[in-house]
Amino acid sequence: MSHKSDLIAQDIEAYLHQHQHKSLLRFLTCGSVDDGKSTLIGRLLYDSKMIFEDQLAALEADSKKVGTQGGDIDFALLVDGLAAEREQGITIDVAYRFFSTDRRKFIVADTPGHEQYTRNMVTGASTADAAIILIDARKGVLTQTRRHSYLVSLLGIRHVVLAVNKMDLVDWSQEVFDAIVGEYRDFADQIGIKAFTAIPMSALKGDNITDSSERSPWYAGPPLMRWLEEAPVEDDLQEKPFRMPVQWVNRPDLDFRGFSGQVASGVIRPGDKVKALPSGRESTVARIVTFTGDLPQAVAGQSVTITLADEIDVSRGDVLAASGRPPEVADQFEATIVWFDDEALLPGRPYLLKLGTRTVQAQVAEPKHKVNVNTLEKLAATRLELNEIGVANLSLSAPIAFDPYADNKDLGGFILIDRITNRTVGAGMLHFALRRSHNIHWQATDVGKASRAAQKGQTPKVLWFTGLSGAGKSTIANLVEKRLHADGRHTYLLDGDNVRHGLNRDLGFTEEDRVENIRRVGEVAKLMADAGLIVLTAFISPFRAERRMVREMLPDGEFVEVFVDTPLAHAEQRDVKGLYKKARAGELKNFTGIDSPYEAPESAEIRIDTTATSAEQAAEQIVAWLDRGGAG
Ligand code: ADX
Repeated sequence: MSHKSDLIAQDIEAYLHQHQHKSLLRFLTCGSVDDGKSTLIGRLLYDSKMIFEDQLAALEADSKKVGTQGGDIDFALLVDGLAAEREQGITIDVAYRFFSTDRRKFIVADTPGHEQYTRNMVTGASTADAAIILIDARKGVLTQTRRHSYLVSLLGIRHVVLAVNKMDLVDWSQEVFDAIVGEYRDFADQIGIKAFTAIPMSALKGDNITDSSERSPWYAGPPLMRWLEEAPVEDDLQEKPFRMPVQWVNRPDLDFRGFSGQVASGVIRPGDKVKALPSGRESTVARIVTFTGDLPQAVAGQSVTITLADEIDVSRGDVLAASGRPPEVADQFEATIVWFDDEALLPGRPYLLKLGTRTVQAQVAEPKHKVNVNTLEKLAATRLELNEIGVANLSLSAPIAFDPYADNKDLGGFILIDRITNRTVGAGMLHFALRRSHNIHWQATDVGKASRAAQKGQTPKVLWFTGLSGAGKSTIANLVEKRLHADGRHTYLLDGDNVRHGLNRDLGFTEEDRVENIRRVGEVAKLMADAGLIVLTAFISPFRAERRMVREMLPDGEFVEVFVDTPLAHAEQRDVKGLYKKARAGELKNFTGIDSPYEAPESAEIRIDTTATSAEQAAEQIVAWLDRGGAG
């Protein structure tokens, strides 16, 4: 598959050589639904003669069938591959297309312009050298244009084309073009896009795509294809210090131990000193191994296996780096976060953060601000919703090696994954490490948890009661504590309503406040267990993610989930505090079970069926469970 070149007929060897050594430009197209993005890409493929004969025949037939362009070929059909998309008239997923000209090879990421675009744009943009921002000349600069441009700037794409499309529909008016470019320039200045090339065009008619169009004699710049052929490709990655995230430790037998991965930046040669991070241990590169033999050097973008002169401990997820210029290591950062899940980002909830080949747990603090992409105003925020962009501090469960995103996209860009659904819910760019991450250390104490527990003659536990409001959590927990206390055990009961009078008096019942409520209670319970106590907690704690978080904060076996299982109808019927009535009347918002969710435990250690068990029986059941040492 290739474009049309006379060399193919004359000297196929020479052609192949030339083709192989052409530079590669990766670019991204972004625009609103009707800006003509698919048509533009289709046009680029068509004009570079990348379409097979049979594809062309199908295209002509389809164009007649769908018939959005009269008798003309509808280039969008070439790109909008999925049947469903064609029917809806939108583009759904990131599609990568390859084409080439005599001078260069191209990979274009076609990202959708409708509501779910952020995820796809971030995906498509993460490797792009350039971006084409499409504008419909009749509509000018839209919210979407601003949003896309803002993302392009955040993602560090420095080469930007403003493609003012559909110029035929505004009679090739220079005034219209100039006005759009002027408005865009003001915005670009504010978001740090220092330079861009504006091209008036008609993707449909082919004006200013491959050749300069006679219809715009007032336009002296390059047609799009020439701009694409001449845009500088970022090869300064090789100038940067060496970094290689370790993908896996390759150990086929006892005599060989290599570290495999893709070189993210820099150049590496045998004899170079390297540092493994986060451990900080140093060694020297012995060999650079590939399937086709050893290499004298490896550069950014190459996948290799490196062996070291010394046996130092390096694991998957670590980073090998130039000894003299290593990345920083930290566990707390400030970052920009782009959120693209339907469920909001909730501060305090643990997510998985993947950076390079490393995955750790991460909690996001309350956003410092979110950005209104239209006005660039910084707005206060307690969460980030779908497609929102904000700045927040992050705290990780373990230190990682990183570079600021501005210096190295591979070592500064990350994604966030929901631990329950496994969905990629956001992406982000690290700005810098917070200094407290270096300045706060764990202070060891001489009297430890074991000795405190031994003095009390008991095994610390956290009995975590969860269930709807009015399920009976507090009542049962209270009875359990009474029995344990009578039995000489050292206990403490943390109760939702009580804690909300003091420590958590600043919290309400929004999702983010409930997450924070449970996070704090979890930390307090952990301290109390560390003091050697048997802790009982009675909170609705409606979300699996936070209950799981507390479970994981404690040693195995210490967290005992007690599901006080009362059907909503029962709790509502009892309605001891009269809150269900208020909630039904709309006087109380975000009430659990009514207009706020409750996620029932899937594998609680103890389940109490309150429809068949009295509070006394339940308490007995729980104490018996503890006396048996947790079995059954
Ligand atoms: S949690 O969801 O954050 O775990 P928590 O257990 O602390 O809730 O507090 C629940 C108690 O607060 C309920 O038993 C009820 O008395 C009271 N309450 C007041 N408003 C609400 C509400 N909107 N939803 C649930 N409980 C509420």
